[in-house]
Amino acid sequence: MRIILYTGKGGVGKTSIAAATAVKSAEQGMKTLVVSTDPAHSLGDSLDMNLSHEPVEIKENLWAQEIDAIHEVEEGWGKVQQYLTDLFTAKAVKDITTQELTVFPGMEDLLSLLRILKYYKEVSFDVIIIDCAPTGETLALLSFPEMLRWWMEKLFPMKKKAIKVAGPIAESILKIPMPSGQVLDEIDNIYQQLDEMKKVFSDRDITSIRIVVNPEKMVIKEAQRSYTYMNIYDFNVDAVIVNRVIPDNVTDEYFKVWKDIQKKYKEDIIDSFTPIPVYYAPLFETEVVGMTILNRMAQAVFKEENPVEIKYCGRIQQVDSDGEDYILAINMPFMDKKDLSLNQKGDQLIIKAGNIKRNITLPRILLAYSIKRAKFEDEKLKIWFGRDENE
Ligand SMILES: Nc1ncnc2c1ncn2[C@@H]1O[C@H](COP(=O)(O)OP(=O)(O)O)[C@@H](O)[C@H]1O
Ligand SMILES: [Mg+2]
Repeated sequence: MRIILYTGKGGVGKTSIAAATAVKSAEQGMKTLVVSTDPAHSLGDSLDMNLSHEPVEIKENLWAQEIDAIHEVEEGWGKVQQYLTDLFTAKAVKDITTQELTVFPGMEDLLSLLRILKYYKEVSFDVIIIDCAPTGETLALLSFPEMLRWWMEKLFPMKKKAIKVAGPIAESILKIPMPSGQVLDEIDNIYQQLDEMKKVFSDRDITSIRIVVNPEKMVIKEAQRSYTYMNIYDFNVDAVIVNRVIPDNVTDEYFKVWKDIQKKYKEDIIDSFTPIPVYYAPLFETEVVGMTILNRMAQAVFKEENPVEIKYCGRIQQVDSDGEDYILAINMPFMDKKDLSLNQKGDQLIIKAGNIKRNITLPRILLAYSIKRAKFEDEKLKIWFGRDENE
C-alpha cells in the first residue's frame, strides 16, 4: 500500500497533479483513491465529476472523495468538543493562552487524516493520493499529532482513573465541569489513532510527500522552506514536480522573457532539491479539467514510469559516533541558523525553526548523553551529544 501527499503553495497545481497521478495509477491497474483534504475543494472540478464526502467510484479502479471536515469532527470529536465548550465557558482554564488555543482549528484537518488512516487499516485501496491544503496547513497537519498531545496533556493532566473516581467531588470543589467517561474514551481513541497515524506517515516504505512548484521565485522559496520542515519532521519527500513549464515549441515572442526566467528557476530548483528527482508538467493550452487532459498531464510528468512507486528515499536524520561523543545530524538546507533554537528536556529534543516547533524523541543511544554543542555544516544541523563532564 502506498500513500502520497501532494503539497505546495496555493494555485501551483496540487489538485491537478494529484488527480493526474491518480488517473494514471488507476489505469495501471491499482485500486486508487484520490482524496482532497483542502476545504476549498476543487478535486471534483478537476475530475469534472460531482464528488461527495464518501468515496465514489468514478472509473475502473479510480475512487475520489472530498472529505467534509465538519462531518469528521462530529463523528470523531463531537463529545470532546462539547465538553471543551462547557469548560471554556466555565472560564476555568487559566494556564492556556489564547495563542495555544489556536492550534485547535487544525483539528478538522487532523480528523480528515484519521479517515485516511482508517482506509489504510482496512486495506481498502492499493494507493491513496492526498490532495492537501496549501503548504502551511499541510505542515500544521503533519505536526498536529505532536501538538495535540502536548495540548491535551496540558488540558487533561489528570489520569483517566483519577477523574472517574474523583471527578464528581472535584467538580463541586473546583466548579469546573469534569470530562465524562465518554469524553475520555473519545480522547483515548484519538490518542491511539494519532500514534498509529504518525507511524504510517513516517514509514518510508508507505508514505511520501511530493512538493509541487512553479518555476517562480516566491513559489520556490516556499517549497524550500517546507522541505526543511519536512526534514525536521523526518518525512520522506520523494519528488518535486515543476508545473506550468512553457513548452519548447512555443516560440511566440511574448513568452521569450518568460522562458528565460523559467529556465533560470528550473536550474535553481534542481540545485535546491538534488538528489530528489524533479518532474515536469507543461503549461497546457487550456485549464486542466477532465480525464483527457489529466491523462495528458500524467503522461507528460511520468512518461513510462510507475507514478506511485517511491521515487527517492534519503536518510534525513542520522546518528554517527565521533570518538566518545555522538552526532545527530538533521538535513536542513535553506535554514538560517538565527531562526533556530535547541533545547533538551529528558529524552526530548526541542527544535524551534521559525514558527515550527518539533519535539524529537531522542534515539535510545543518546539518552544517557546531553547536548555539548551544535553547529551548521554542509547544510546539516549537527548536534553533539556527550557524557556530562562531571560524571
Ligand atoms: N499545467 C497547467 N496548465 C494549464 N492550467 C493548469 C496547469 N496546472 C494547473 N492548471 C490550472 O490552474 C488552476 C489551479 O490549479 P490547481 O491544480 O487547482 O492548483 P492548486 O490545487 O495547487 O490550488 C486550475 O484551474 C487548473 O486547471
Ligand atoms: Mg487544490
